[in-house]
Amino acid sequence: MEEKKRKLIMDVDTGSDDAVAVLLAILSGKFDILGITVSWGNSDVETCVNNTLQVVDLLGADIPVYQGCPGPMVREMTVGRVMNNPKNKTSETKDGKTVKMHPNTLPIPPATSKKQKEHAVTFIVETIKNSPEKVTIIPTAPMTNIGMALRMDPTIATNIEEIVLMGGAVGMGNASPVAEANFFHDPEAAKIIFDSGAKVRVVPLNATHSAGLLKEDAERLMSLGTEAGKLAAELVMMRTEASAFMGWRTDQGEPIHDALAVAWALDPSVIMESRMEKCDIDINGGICDGQMVVDHRRGYEFTPNACVAYKGDRVRFMEILCEHLAKGPKVG
Ligand code: BDR
Ligand code: CA
Repeated sequence: MEEKKRKLIMDVDTGSDDAVAVLLAILSGKFDILGITVSWGNSDVETCVNNTLQVVDLLGADIPVYQGCPGPMVREMTVGRVMNNPKNKTSETKDGKTVKMHPNTLPIPPATSKKQKEHAVTFIVETIKNSPEKVTIIPTAPMTNIGMALRMDPTIATNIEEIVLMGGAVGMGNASPVAEANFFHDPEAAKIIFDSGAKVRVVPLNATHSAGLLKEDAERLMSLGTEAGKLAAELVMMRTEASAFMGWRTDQGEPIHDALAVAWALDPSVIMESRMEKCDIDINGGICDGQMVVDHRRGYEFTPNACVAYKGDRVRFMEILCEHLAKGPKVG
């Protein structure tokens, strides 16, 4: 008997690693993808929509794409708040050469399909509210669209199977010394998710950096001979070169953050270490703005609200990627 597919909404800001996440979710065949909603984040929301359509079209998939919010819920309303930390660096120019973590257009044919007319947030609310089965959400962008949906109708939390999100960091950061970009860009939205009562699994930087992909992994993806493998390989190499150019640590390989969240939703064995934790978000606008605060104290009265992944398994991650990205249109 055919395995039942889980109802899924992805929320992305495609984006190099989001593109790999979308490829993996679609090609896995394990999800009934009700829609892909798009947030601002790696670029403006229109660019992220266009990139998402490119990936969906590459696979010839019939999945509706919805444009969401163009900026954070309230973050920019606090005077001085956005000045507290230097802007997240995702591109650099040296000696006339510019490299980017997230290209403006993906290196695949232009999109031919069109975004839906409905706004992403109303799609999320109506779809979850009316779904006869619980819906899983995989957010891999600033949490604005999901936070807004939960704000519009908090009761949808009861019909969410789980939220498996990429965001946060414990004892590290990328958008600031202590905050990860998806949470940093919309801290209030992330807090709303943790306070929603929905089941939440978190893939923070700790997990994604411990399962970074190597040059040889990119070569293996390329050798799959599929459009999906080729695009993933090119994006891994593009990110690897950008990290090296910007002087970032590269000894653990290149994190493909968002795809690890999809891999964990598909297969628990890709995460080697995880714990139930009590998570909160600093929304106070100071130097820790957007930090995921995990209460590690024991012997205190608190109820854990999320399962946090601390360590990923690169070898297993590659096995999952290779199994699924070997499907779909062949190159040439
Ligand atoms: C996250 O931020 C974005 O730049 C990536 O796509 C990923 O979702 C990593 O911090
Ligand atoms: Ca992303």
